[in-house]
Amino acid sequence: MNADAGIAQGLALVSRDEDGVDIAFRAQVLAGLGQRQKAIPARWFYDEAGSQLFEAITELPEYYPTRTEVHILEAHCADMGSAIGPGRAVVEFGSGSSMKTPLVLRCIDPAAYVPIDISGDFLRASAAALAADFPGLAVVPVEADFTRPVLLPPGVSDLPKLGFFPGSTIGNMVPPSAVDLLRSMRGTLGHDAMLLIGMDRIKDPAVLVAAYDDAAGTTGAFNLNLASRINRELGGTIPVDALHHEARWNDTLARIEMHLVAARDIAFTVAGKDFTMATGESIHTENSHKFDARSAATLLLAGGWSPRETWTDVDGLFSVILADASEARMAP
Ligand code: AVJ
Repeated sequence: MNADAGIAQGLALVSRDEDGVDIAFRAQVLAGLGQRQKAIPARWFYDEAGSQLFEAITELPEYYPTRTEVHILEAHCADMGSAIGPGRAVVEFGSGSSMKTPLVLRCIDPAAYVPIDISGDFLRASAAALAADFPGLAVVPVEADFTRPVLLPPGVSDLPKLGFFPGSTIGNMVPPSAVDLLRSMRGTLGHDAMLLIGMDRIKDPAVLVAAYDDAAGTTGAFNLNLASRINRELGGTIPVDALHHEARWNDTLARIEMHLVAARDIAFTVAGKDFTMATGESIHTENSHKFDARSAATLLLAGGWSPRETWTDVDGLFSVILADASEARMAP
């Protein structure tokens, strides 16, 4: 596990073929388009255009999660500070622009900040900006794929950790993958660790669907950009104008699903392979699971984390949960 992480950190994180094509992207798109229910993992949304569209989504009136989570972190700063205590190394999984990080750092008197992100240039720029705002704080960026166990740098390995995983990103994963990730985080962070994790809550499906199908069409553009990205990077011929964005609430699995639905029968190629879609058939592009207190607790416990405190907004839209890695095995 550690050897694996060491290798992952030593090599370029994105493998490309001689034409510069991202090998994992091509493999996952071809495999996903070959399934009966076509499906492509949500991680591939985030090329340059997709990342910009996601930033725009976070400012939409209908998309409540980002502003609500920020509000919760601001409103409960003092409580979080006393529950977490000083002297921890804050390890952020998928730190991106580290936008929410200062809201936690300023509450807890941390010993170090370890942002982990797969995008090295972005990571170093964000880490430098944050270090300037927190003089005296050790900022130690780690370029790695956080979905795999990460070897933390020697300087922080002896400090107690606080994992930080905001945004309800955990909701993008189906339960088995979410549990694997939580367990991997527990391995990375050590036995006396805590985890501060954002989880979006189950609510009126109309509110959920609007958050993922906004009036301005920004989420639609975000979803359709995946098809354009396939055309750009994998030599695809997908007729993007024949696809439309759909957000569906799956009540059984408590998740919003995003699909790209064919408005007519289409045929196209991707990386030299032929595909067809009949009218109404879809490519499933994202799951965004929603939680109540019990399903959140069950998921965390399955991943090796015991929930200790939950903070929510007054409308109960979103929750920020503090869990710890203490032994949760109870009688019998
Ligand atoms: C970044 C995974 C938290 O699921 O709400 C936003 C991504 N997709 N609108 C989410 C997303 C469509 C977002 N996460």
